Amino acid sequence: MSKISIAFVLLAASLVQAAQPMYGQCGGAGYTGDTTCVSGGVCTKVNDFYSQCLPGAAAPTTSTTTTTTTTSTSTTPTTTVTSVPVPSKTPIAGADPNTAAVVTAFNQYNVTTRFGLTFNPSAILGVRFSAQSQSFKAGQDVARNITLNTPELSLWGVQDPGLGPFVIVMADPDVPTPANPSYSPVRHWLAGNYYGTPTSNVLTPSGTAITPYFQPTPGVGSPAHRYTYLLYKQPDNFNQQRVVTSQTSIVNWNVTQFAAQTGLGNPIAGTFMMTVM
Ligand SMILES: *[C@@H]1O[C@H](CO)[C@@H](O)[C@H](O)[C@H]1NC(C)=O
Ligand SMILES: *[C@@H]1O[C@H](CO)[C@@H](O)[C@H](O)[C@H]1NC(C)=O
Ligand SMILES: *[C@@H]1O[C@H](CO)[C@@H](O)[C@H](O)[C@H]1NC(C)=O
Repeated sequence: MSKISIAFVLLAASLVQAAQPMYGQCGGAGYTGDTTCVSGGVCTKVNDFYSQCLPGAAAPTTSTTTTTTTTSTSTTPTTTVTSVPVPSKTPIAGADPNTAAVVTAFNQYNVTTRFGLTFNPSAILGVRFSAQSQSFKAGQDVARNITLNTPELSLWGVQDPGLGPFVIVMADPDVPTPANPSYSPVRHWLAGNYYGTPTSNVLTPSGTAITPYFQPTPGVGSPAHRYTYLLYKQPDNFNQQRVVTSQTSIVNWNVTQFAAQTGLGNPIAGTFMMTVM
């Protein structure tokens, strides 16, 4: 084999082995790209859908081509490490700027006591309907006509909430009216397996909801209902729980009891919107 073709083989080998940059994706369900990391990076599983190159002590895995280079006079191409932005997240547009503001709203509107919550959030929950450019603040009025479809969730960690999975709960404590909530709380949404990524606030669901989201339907003439969203860290065995299934009545659903029965603990984030018919 000529020197040129040897060099070509080496070049091709090293291109195939091009490593992912630090903080780049290196694995996960459906991922078809490179699974090796640049020198100093270790491919680390974040969740079933995302593995990422993180700084670590393991040796790089791209050194195998160097053993055959002694006979070749050509220079093997080296992988240049371009600078990669460190993942960062910013506060959620439109949502509360800090957890104190959320807690104040929950207390002012008696949401904390109504659900019997222990509410010391460590993160901000953003809830955005597709007709909205941004999330709402806790206690904000949201027009019913934009609430038809499942909203997008986002999470901003004041303390690091991790990347999930998380469980979302939405309930209405004011059915049929705030003054006479005899059917309350009504479960509007219950879904687990929401995951974050290191670079975006948006949470993405995997799998199907236990109770799919359904639109607020306060009675005509009723004062605004306090549609409340709570996010919990998901315990390991949550997908096996049978306390609430797709067959379970949505009325008179005690969220706090459910959280205790299924090991959800206390919510790590929450918000609520005021909606009338
Ligand atoms: C919250 O509860 C207090 C005390 O029961 C009451 O005075 C107040 O009107 C309630 N506020 C709302 C918004 O329900
Ligand atoms: C639910 O259960 C908790 C704890 O047992 C209690 O404090 C709360 O008042 C109950 N009611 C509702 C409406 O959640
Ligand atoms: C939704 O209702 C509000 C009033 O509650 C109105 O101002 C707005 O135009 C409506 N939007 C749509 C998309 O129908």
